[in-house]
Amino acid sequence: MKKHIIKINLDANSYKIIIGSNILSNIKRYFDTNRKFLIITDDNVPKAYIKKVRLALPRSYVFTLKHGENNKNNANYQKIMNNLIKHNFDRSDAIVAVGGGMVGDLAGFVASTYMRGIAFYNIPTTLLSQVDSSIGGKTAINMSKVKNIVGAFYQPKAVIIDTDTLKTLTEREFYSGLVEAIKMSATFDKRLFNYIKNCKDVYRHIDYIIYRSLLIKKKVVEKDEKEKGLRKVLNFGHTIGHAIEEAKNYRLLHGECVGIGMLYFSSPKARENIEQILRRYNLPTTCTYDKKKVLSLIKHDKKSKDNKISTIHVDKIGRYKVRTLSIEDIGKLLV
Ligand SMILES: NC(=O)c1ccc[n+]([C@@H]2O[C@H](COP(=O)([O-])OP(=O)(O)OC[C@H]3O[C@@H](n4cnc5c(N)ncnc54)[C@H](O)[C@@H]3O)[C@@H](O)[C@H]2O)c1
Repeated sequence: MKKHIIKINLDANSYKIIIGSNILSNIKRYFDTNRKFLIITDDNVPKAYIKKVRLALPRSYVFTLKHGENNKNNANYQKIMNNLIKHNFDRSDAIVAVGGGMVGDLAGFVASTYMRGIAFYNIPTTLLSQVDSSIGGKTAINMSKVKNIVGAFYQPKAVIIDTDTLKTLTEREFYSGLVEAIKMSATFDKRLFNYIKNCKDVYRHIDYIIYRSLLIKKKVVEKDEKEKGLRKVLNFGHTIGHAIEEAKNYRLLHGECVGIGMLYFSSPKARENIEQILRRYNLPTTCTYDKKKVLSLIKHDKKSKDNKISTIHVDKIGRYKVRTLSIEDIGKLLV
């Protein structure tokens, strides 16, 4: 099967994203194998993927986290740092993340700070991480119950996306990850939106969907590496979605909440279109939640300032507008 390659051009650190099937069996070529590598993963990522990566990297160690968002924490950050020190890692060595966004964010943050920064390679294995979190250089850990509060912008040396890894994801995780592609297409690319909407076999064509979604995110992050402006568009669906996710104690998946969150900021016509695509992939279009709690979470969102928050709206699929709303305005939208 054909491989897609995307080059991310940034001022200081450019890198390639390689997307395709069966890449893990032949990844040696992407690494300087003389280095030592610490592979960071979690205990839900199938061991077969780690085995393949280790085969290519003879001088590697593995650090396995427990799975789940609450493990993206300071205690694990410190444990990994101690592990690097124990194995005498130096500036010429590297970190490899093999897993979803949780592993990628934590491993990237470790790489950004160990000896003031060592090489970082990302092998994302969930659809969310392949389509979204593996690009853009955001790394972070959670602290004092605040998500992603400590982190850094730090670019990887390469991102290697083997779409075969998606075969072991549950259908629910897969479709939840697809929401980020739906989000990107809804704001920038009507053709991709319709492609996802009408695709007969989304599993078979997922490499193309990932490729096209990453091209959108590439344009955004190349223009706005550190989220000073344009990058806000990637928050479509996230203002309310993220608050719902937290208010419901993560019982709904991230993508499921973002999907619901997009509907609040869409015109009736766009909303109908987005609802159709969500339903097609068994994604919820509504849920019950504690309105007061959701509103309070939005008020304390890192992105809100002086009781106002800038939000992304889609009036027509493929285009977006930025509107600054007060917390009271958002309250009126909630059910
Ligand atoms: N850095 C960014 O730009 C960015 C963007 C969006 C989200 N994120 C972060 O990403 C995280 C969420 O990522 P996620 O949705 O990938 O969740 P996750 O990393 O927690 O993975 C979800 C589950 O899938 C398992 N898993 C991973 N790969 C698998 C595979 N191939 N087969 C079977 N199981 C597999 C994991 O072990 C885990 O149990 C959050 O921490 C979020 O903050 C970061």
